[in-house]
Amino acid sequence: MCVDCGRDFELGLRLRCECGGLLEVVHEFPWVDRDLFDGRLSQRSGPYGSGVWRFKELVYPGLDVDRIVSRQEGNTSIYSHRRLTEYTGIGKVAVKHEGENPSGSFKDRGMTVGVSEAMRLGVSSVACASTGNTSASLASFAATTGMNCVVFIPEGMIALGKLAQALSYGATVLQIRGDFDAAMWLVQEASAELGLYLLNSVNPWRIEGQKSIIFELIQQRGWEPPDWIVLPAGNLGNTSAFGKALRELKSQGLIDSVPRLASIQAEGANPFYSLWAEREESLTPMEPHTVASAIKIGNPVSWKKAIRSIEETDGVVEQVSDQEIMDAKAVVDRCGIGCEPASAASVAGARKLVDVGAIDPEDDVVCILTGNLLKDPGATVNYHTGVIEGVSPRFSNTPMVVNADLASVEEALNSLALKGSRKE
Ligand code: F0G
Repeated sequence: MCVDCGRDFELGLRLRCECGGLLEVVHEFPWVDRDLFDGRLSQRSGPYGSGVWRFKELVYPGLDVDRIVSRQEGNTSIYSHRRLTEYTGIGKVAVKHEGENPSGSFKDRGMTVGVSEAMRLGVSSVACASTGNTSASLASFAATTGMNCVVFIPEGMIALGKLAQALSYGATVLQIRGDFDAAMWLVQEASAELGLYLLNSVNPWRIEGQKSIIFELIQQRGWEPPDWIVLPAGNLGNTSAFGKALRELKSQGLIDSVPRLASIQAEGANPFYSLWAEREESLTPMEPHTVASAIKIGNPVSWKKAIRSIEETDGVVEQVSDQEIMDAKAVVDRCGIGCEPASAASVAGARKLVDVGAIDPEDDVVCILTGNLLKDPGATVNYHTGVIEGVSPRFSNTPMVVNADLASVEEALNSLALKGSRKE
């Protein structure tokens, strides 16, 4: 169904309405209950062992199980840690780590569904524009099927770990001379004209898969929703998916209360924040700047779906600076958990929302970590060595250079009072 004009379409290759609006999948759900999904938790292999397809009836009920293309995605952990509580000021704060997915980001949850659909449709070539993670995930899933994969990435603007993945998995990598928004525009033109099947989150099947972050999170908590779910926001696929997931859990009687969503943008790439804060009618695109390259997006495609998610959940949109993002990341890393910069926007955002009085320190809060620490080693090392412009690291762990002899090592350890066995 078109989210703009409400027109209905049959499932197929079409991804946009004739009016230009984005499409949304409308399911006729079979009967489901918590026991159905809990009963599959012991499965370690096969489609129902996946943290996406465990919820198949809510994700893609009509798909033949044999057609599922899965990498056993999902099944990610929820962690809490004293340092997270100290940093955010929230007693009951936890992080759900989507960086534990097979390609290192939450994108795998959408991609398993999108690529399964591409196979069902019999397409031979798939494409996406990306700030890095979408391309890494699509390249991986395409490689498992043998489909051709073309990725459009902004030249010089994506983290090296992600570029390395796309190259390694054998995608055709087009480095576009322009930013993500230019690549996004171009890939939509190219898919329409050149017969590539588009697997950005404008593809509604991506959204169906990403809903499973919420399904799994709430199932892991014994079907007890938290008060708040805080997530980073870039192209707004996840914000859209989370709202739809909560709407459907409620309508199917799987939860009684709906958590509030908090979408967090980088200050330098904040068109969704401006839209929400200024109560504007439509999104005003901007030129984005942020160290969190994954969310360096000035013209997010899914803003209409996303604003509905915020409104329906009595949610908020907040923004955080690069300084706040990188400091929060250092705290998450120091817990032994670790994440890439964009992910830490959620934790930075939770802290800020406590400061501004939106989140109560007594609230039960889950922050989503969207990507793995190893995705962007450059940003991490640059933080700890103090070379990120405009960021003065509060939690840096600067490497020391020592001569290759014992005396120098002893001197270095003495200077830190680190000699002998000690804990902290
Ligand atoms: N966090 C990470 C690590 C991401 O890679 C992205 C988006 C987001 C957050 C934002 O999620 O777009 O659903 O609001 N990355 C896309 C990509 C744009 O191309 O990999 P969103």
